[in-house]
Amino acid sequence: MRETNNTPYSHADDALRVVPAGPRDPVHPSITEDKISELVETFYARAQVEPRLGPLFNDRLDGKWPVHMDKMKKFWSSVLLKSGKYKGKPIPAHMVLTEIKSDDFRLWLELFRKTSIEILGEEAASPAIRAAERIAQSLWMAKFATPFDEVPEWLNQ
Ligand code: HEM
Repeated sequence: MRETNNTPYSHADDALRVVPAGPRDPVHPSITEDKISELVETFYARAQVEPRLGPLFNDRLDGKWPVHMDKMKKFWSSVLLKSGKYKGKPIPAHMVLTEIKSDDFRLWLELFRKTSIEILGEEAASPAIRAAERIAQSLWMAKFATPFDEVPEWLNQ
């Protein structure tokens, strides 16, 4: 890269220039930051009152919900809009949550499928659900799998 206007131009400059990756495409053109915000707000409002999932979130996030919501909006913005806003490590964050049982992932996905279809519409929800299932599988594997396990069918619909 040329640092001053006095540096002579060379074609080598162009050849060596590392072009940063441009913004990548959203998983569906109708998904916006506003839609993601609505999806995240609705999902966690429902998760908080779901009899089994509610306490798993509330016990951990008491007094920390605003931080969690902000993080989750960035997370879904990164997954669905490829915005790169989320910087974090979901696997270790869930490894310490020892109260989570295998079947809780089924409940989580059930709620996510329903909520995303409602908020995003069936067509845009489809790639969002696939992404959620993929990540849920990684989290489930990290927490529960032995090398010989297959992921449960309900993680992959
Ligand atoms: C059984 C299902 C699940 C439960 C009960 C659960 C619960 C939680 C809780 C309590 C936290 C907050 C941890 C903390 O800040 O101390 C958290 C963080 C998070 N969860 Fe989940 N989770 C579940 C599944 C998932 C799935 C399937 C995804 C993604 C598709 C996900 C994505 C995240 C992310 C990105 C964070 C933030 C991690 C960070 O700190 O950077 N979770 N989860």
